[in-house]
Amino acid sequence: MKAVTASAPAKLNLVLQVGRLEDGYHPLYSIFEALNMRETVRVTPCAGPSHVHTTVQLGPGSKRIEEAINALEPQQNLAVKAGERLLQEAQKRMQQARCAHNQGPRSIGDDGAAALPPGLEFEVLKRVPMAGGMAGGSADAAAALVAVNELLGLKLTMQQLLEIGAELGADVPACLMGGTSLGLRYGDQMTKLGHGQTHHWVMVLVRNGLSTPAVFKTFDTHQRGREKLPTSLRTQDRYKALGPATDLKHLLTNDLQASALEMRPDLARIMTRINHTDALAALVSGSGPTIAVLARDGEHAQQLAQTISEFADVEDCLCTHGPVVGARVETLAGPAATEKPRTDVTATEKSRTDAPATKESQTDPAATEKPCTDAPGPQEPQMLTLARTEE
Ligand code: C5P
Repeated sequence: MKAVTASAPAKLNLVLQVGRLEDGYHPLYSIFEALNMRETVRVTPCAGPSHVHTTVQLGPGSKRIEEAINALEPQQNLAVKAGERLLQEAQKRMQQARCAHNQGPRSIGDDGAAALPPGLEFEVLKRVPMAGGMAGGSADAAAALVAVNELLGLKLTMQQLLEIGAELGADVPACLMGGTSLGLRYGDQMTKLGHGQTHHWVMVLVRNGLSTPAVFKTFDTHQRGREKLPTSLRTQDRYKALGPATDLKHLLTNDLQASALEMRPDLARIMTRINHTDALAALVSGSGPTIAVLARDGEHAQQLAQTISEFADVEDCLCTHGPVVGARVETLAGPAATEKPRTDVTATEKSRTDAPATKESQTDPAATEKPCTDAPGPQEPQMLTLARTEE
């Protein structure tokens, strides 16, 4: 059985409207844009239990973060959870086939391609900051789902992957889907919005992360939940989300922003200073602490990044753009020892080490210039609705 490498994008919430807490979760009205910052997951069958190794490409602190992540139990890793979920699906299918035929088939794919491995080995290349409100962990899960689906020959459709993804985490469907998408309810009702114009962003990173549940808790304490949320896409939102940056700037909304800024005075100070630059707009990304700054174009983004990276408490500024394609298979390779290194990964590593803070960072050139219309593989549904699973 071969190794499979897949990638998935980070996300930014162009709109994040939050309702009142219901059974431990908040209903949402959210418009996502997939960003050209991609996580890569390489999956190989292995003889023992599933395990994971992560390499972090996030600048100076990478080694420290890498050691902390690699010290975690594999079962706490979203990529492993996602892969194991599909391995179970494969085992279930095999058992059903055994019952049906009263004897064990030797393979799981419809094409009878390969026997089931006892476990999976994951190699994760992290380019999306952790606990930054950009769904880095969800992107790992999305890439793992696509890779393992291919590796095991499961042939699950995009709709099926979205359903499984929503069980793993609220942002996994957006990372699977890519492009510009609408998420309703608990992120479990997803619609793709079509082809939007490219937007250039500066993602402003600060040293410490913010816990998503903690931000929601502050939000609840102040009773900031909306009584009513839109139940379908508002026409003017679609127009602005897919339009040029000059229209998009009038759309950007994040109901969690006030709570994140309250919890982190350093962010509030940075936001004030950004508001004095000529940026088109700025907002906290998801539950923070990353701040997304909207630029006129790529050159403007570079200039803004240079200015903002000098601000106190700013750790790094990454230039990126969206929307880009969702999770997709990148390479099908033979045994690890014979696989040639990918030139795009090498190029990315080079750009990270050579370039200053204003680089177009964490891109995966394999996906960089491809329009978001690129088919990720499985067929995308127009709308997905599924049962919510409680944490
Ligand atoms: O689904 P995910 O693991 O990303 O969510 C992390 C936490 O954020 C949840 O356990 C919950 O406390 C909070 N959350 C929420 N409402 C949402 C999404 C997340 O309260 N719609």
